[in-house]
Amino acid sequence: MSTIVVEELDDRVVVTLRRPEARNAINAAMVGELHEVCAALEERPRLLLLTGEGGTFAAGADIGELRQRGREQALQGINSRLFDRIARLPLPTVAAVDGYALGGGAELAYACDIRLASPSAVFGNPEPGLGILAAAGACWRLRELAGASVAKQVLLAGRRLDADDALRFGLVAEVVPAGDLLKRAHALLDRMARSGQLALRLTKLVADGGGHPLTDELAQAILFESEEKAERMDAFLAGGRS
Ligand code: COA
Repeated sequence: MSTIVVEELDDRVVVTLRRPEARNAINAAMVGELHEVCAALEERPRLLLLTGEGGTFAAGADIGELRQRGREQALQGINSRLFDRIARLPLPTVAAVDGYALGGGAELAYACDIRLASPSAVFGNPEPGLGILAAAGACWRLRELAGASVAKQVLLAGRRLDADDALRFGLVAEVVPAGDLLKRAHALLDRMARSGQLALRLTKLVADGGGHPLTDELAQAILFESEEKAERMDAFLAGGRS
């Protein structure tokens, strides 16, 4: 891996974006490496923690590469397919955002299930300033996360959301001092790791689909027959607490 650092733990994978010379801008090599991480997580589901090195999350897609791309590449959805794949990973994903998350970097963070920020976090989608639009999820994910009014300010008026804005608008779960950000993200993952993993997986699947009585009941039917459910409920009834 040349653009990311991957730390594989038993119950989670930690991925750190690392292209210090380009503020962790997402280039084709990074897209390929993140696809490799996705493949590994699809094969053996684990939680994912995504962060950036050097006080930046990611300053967008690599503008040098974007400059060379034409209609064909746009239609390939190079970044959007990756971010959709990340959004569809079996188990929850957390983005720990320190510093800039701009353009494709913001869209990558939007694709995660939960975001934590340091006080220096800045989210923005300056794409129209480069003569393009934010086509890798911002146009709909940001709207879902923060509402149409905020999304339009960001997408159309170039508004940058600082950490306080992001917290107020519900884009991030918490603002944590930079030095504690990863510790806090791991604590959040610890909590999720203690849950039934099939329960977590099916909850994510159902919730991401918008929920529906039919899917909810089918998923519950699977869980009600699982050994883990019986063990966890027996443990509760015997006085243990999970
Ligand atoms: N693509 C390619 N290179 C990028 C980049 C990107 N998205 N963002 C930053 N870089 C490069 C810069 O060109 C610079 O390279 P250089 O040292 O060879 O000149 C290096 O990273 C450092 O960037 P710099 O702008 O000097 O850092 P800064 O701390 O002053 O500003 C940002 C940081 C993030 C505010 C600024 O780099 C920026 O605005 N980046 C582009 C953001 C953007 O428009 N993203 C949307 C892309 S779709």
